[in-house]
Amino acid sequence: MRHNLPFSLILIAFLIGASESHGQAPAETYVLSLPIGLNQTPPIPEDNPLTEAKIRLGEKLFFDPILSGDGKISCASCHQRELNFATNDRVSEGVGGRKGNRNAPTLLNRAYGKHHFWDGRSGSLEDQALQPIENPDEMGSSIAEALTRLGSAAEYQEFFREAFPDADREASSELVTAEHTAKALASFMRTLLSGGSQVDRFRNKEYTALNQDARQGLWLFESKGGCWRCHSTDNFADEDFHNTGVGFGDPNRDLGRFLATGADADRFRYKTPTLRGVARTAPYMHDGSLATLEEVVEFYSRGGSPDDPGLSLHLKPLNLSDDEKRQLLAFLRALSE
Ligand code: HEC
Ligand code: HEC
Repeated sequence: MRHNLPFSLILIAFLIGASESHGQAPAETYVLSLPIGLNQTPPIPEDNPLTEAKIRLGEKLFFDPILSGDGKISCASCHQRELNFATNDRVSEGVGGRKGNRNAPTLLNRAYGKHHFWDGRSGSLEDQALQPIENPDEMGSSIAEALTRLGSAAEYQEFFREAFPDADREASSELVTAEHTAKALASFMRTLLSGGSQVDRFRNKEYTALNQDARQGLWLFESKGGCWRCHSTDNFADEDFHNTGVGFGDPNRDLGRFLATGADADRFRYKTPTLRGVARTAPYMHDGSLATLEEVVEFYSRGGSPDDPGLSLHLKPLNLSDDEKRQLLAFLRALSE
């Protein structure tokens, strides 16, 4: 795997290798190594244990435009490694330059995710992984066509055989299934862990890791700002849905979580995004409507959209001073360094 990041935020998990002392674990099981600040091993589905070969296949698929209808778009077109697996486009651009209506989120720490997509319509990475292939605004293909392309590529047959050695199939091409493709992509995504930031080191008693501004910003985050109420847990995301007022006043406003549940209370609610790596993932919010972190801080200082009748009760105008805005920004940036 490549480690070509300009900074060491992302620790692509590496193999420690299950030693004899771990008993039942199969020899090739990957053990995720957790960076400082991530204290829990993410859940791994029983029917998709992490293995080196599966992660390798998933990484290859992730960066390969072979999955798209025009052979030009890969997962990485919209989830770029150097941008913490997001893009700088306001909304993402797929095959033939077709624009979707949402901003591509970072894929860091999705291993901890209980729901995926801004509206949480997908419940597992295995379920999520194939959807972009069939989305007309993203990869614009079909699963059947993508599998045909993969199945006729000799090198992929090899990768699938290594990744699924126990599968009881005669020909290698028969190993190229939707289920295996999804399992491999999900396995790769589970290794994209982010921690070890200046904030994590500070919390780990390395008190010089944060400068004065960022330290004040952390305090604001946890007190007056009330940010912690939603950006909670080691991943700075509660895996829940809230209406912060983004898009209020737009007649075509995206309905958010309502699209997944049909419940009135879920109108305009979105999944809280992680704040890890956020300095590189501009623009912000589900619609990419805020161009910079400065704009995000102004947005929260106003209390989101205070006139929105569905606004989360956790938000109110903060009326931050210029010093406080600078400090909150320093904190957000320190989470990415
Ligand atoms: C054309 C751009 C584009 C491509 C290509 C693309 N994605 Fe995405 N991805 C997005 C956008 C936009 C969203 C948010 C969509 C939504 O919430 O409805 C998203 C959301 C996700 C999420 C959910 C993240 C979260 O926070 O819940 C995952 C996981 C993901 N993509 C993985 C992939 C994988 C794997 C591939 C390749 C098979 C892929 N994406 C291809 C644009 C793209
Ligand atoms: C009521 C829950 C809640 C509170 C409180 C809250 N946030 Fe958020 N935050 C969210 C949700 C939900 C989104 C996504 C909203 C959307 O896209 O429509 C978000 C988005 C963001 C983003 C953009 C991330 C991205 O990848 O696009 C940043 C940065 C952010 N919040 C920082 C903060 C800060 C700083 C505070 C405190 C001043 C704060 N948040 C308070 C729920 C909350």
